[in-house]
Amino acid sequence: MENKIIDESVQGTATMLNTTKNNVSGTKKLYVESYGCQMNFSDSEVVASIMNKNGYSTTRDIDEADVVLINTCSIRENAETRVRNRLTEFKSKKAKRPDLVIGILGCMAERLKKSLLEEEKLVDLVAGPDAYRDLPNLVEEVGTGQKAVNVLLSRDETYADISPIRLDQGGISAFVTIMRGCDNMCSFCVVPFTRGRERSRDPETIVNECKDLFEQGYREVTLLGQNVDSYRWNLSSKGEIKDSNQPTVNFAQLMEKVAQVSSDLRIRFSTSHPKDMTDEVLEMMAKYENICSYIHLPVQSGSTTVLDRMNRSYTREWYLERISAIRRIVPDCAISTDIITGFCNETENEHADTLSLMNEVAFDFAYMFKYSERPKTLAERRFEDDVPEDVKSRRLNEIIENQLHHSLKSNQKQIGQIQKILVEGYSKRSDEFLSGRNTQNAVVVFPKETAQKGAYVYVKIEDCTSATLMGNIVHK
Ligand code: SAH
Ligand code: SF4
Ligand code: F3S
Repeated sequence: MENKIIDESVQGTATMLNTTKNNVSGTKKLYVESYGCQMNFSDSEVVASIMNKNGYSTTRDIDEADVVLINTCSIRENAETRVRNRLTEFKSKKAKRPDLVIGILGCMAERLKKSLLEEEKLVDLVAGPDAYRDLPNLVEEVGTGQKAVNVLLSRDETYADISPIRLDQGGISAFVTIMRGCDNMCSFCVVPFTRGRERSRDPETIVNECKDLFEQGYREVTLLGQNVDSYRWNLSSKGEIKDSNQPTVNFAQLMEKVAQVSSDLRIRFSTSHPKDMTDEVLEMMAKYENICSYIHLPVQSGSTTVLDRMNRSYTREWYLERISAIRRIVPDCAISTDIITGFCNETENEHADTLSLMNEVAFDFAYMFKYSERPKTLAERRFEDDVPEDVKSRRLNEIIENQLHHSLKSNQKQIGQIQKILVEGYSKRSDEFLSGRNTQNAVVVFPKETAQKGAYVYVKIEDCTSATLMGNIVHK
């Protein structure tokens, strides 16, 4: 689990994946770079598909690109700073090649709208998360010297009919977006402003996409949404829930449909919200071996009073009850979380509540962040960002240290076990070793023998660090 614990001061965004730089065929060249959460990486594949239909192939080499798009994140201030630095680099390329079109996509595009184009003059084109079908027109508008901006949010856009172009060809694991937007109003969070209203995607198109992926050799799909537990599709009206008596597909039922694509296709999902995660979902996880025993359940804080200020709609006790339900129904389930430290008015006692909750749950891993105030959010309007920077840092360090201890203990408990691993490729350090994940999402490294990428192997766990399990293949 290389990204198991992320101190944002070191690593940037929580869900930051490696930047993707890609390749598919066509005449003009498109270069896409993605930042932020898995949803953005998934959206970049939709963008590549839309552009591909309009004559663009993707390239990994920015210097041969006609169009450069950067898909961005606004979740914390430093996520935006990183993008701004990158845009300044792009601008110097444009100075040498004035025909180069530079566009910004994603959450920062939605948040800052045309200011990046008009005031800061950093880009030629701005497209929000629901405007990607318009990209070919926007690129054309740039060509005719117009201001190309589309940041309209939609109530029903899910790009359901678009088959994403996978940017990691020959990949094993793919993201499949099942819903967009978010209707929760967590007071710290910018997502409802950048992604708009929540809407679910037609389950038939989701299942078909998963079938296609399996046929192309993928062996794992991660179903994505900001709050997957509120997925709901009305079978009669084909979308919006108008009447609660009408037949619907909920998240547990959707997972079952995907699990039935093949028992060799692993299913993961992200993100669950503690207020909505149902026993029905847990029971479905227990029923299907290929639904992975892993839940990411962001708690944010262990203090009920902080949770109330955060507008998370649950208490510490509610969260702990949900953890007991996971332990009861899916006993081998790994649990990870997100924690924000130094939220508005957070006292030492409230911080201590977070540490004690961490000890009570013993998370297998966690993403931990210092609170970063975001414009327009409820917290920005209602509260003061009054925890001093040095206190935020000290609390974050205490939380990270605590988590390292629990991660190491969680890994040590697995020594001696024989685990089923999906092989993802060579390990980072050596081509003599392979790396894959167990059902709990922990990274396992082992000597390659004759095993191939995309295969399932059984590995006996022999050793570990707080981040990685090490072992040897066993032949059953
Ligand atoms: N939809 C998911 C999370 C999306 S953002 C959920 O509800 O859990 C991913 C994580 O970023 C959040 O869980 C939170 O821990 C963190 N985050 C969001 N806004 C933040 C802010 N303003 N400052 C610091 N961390 C933040
Ligand atoms: Fe943000 Fe809360 Fe929605 Fe997650 S559930 S995206 S934290 S508003
Ligand atoms: Fe960032 Fe937007 Fe995702 S703010 S975390 S890219 S939804």
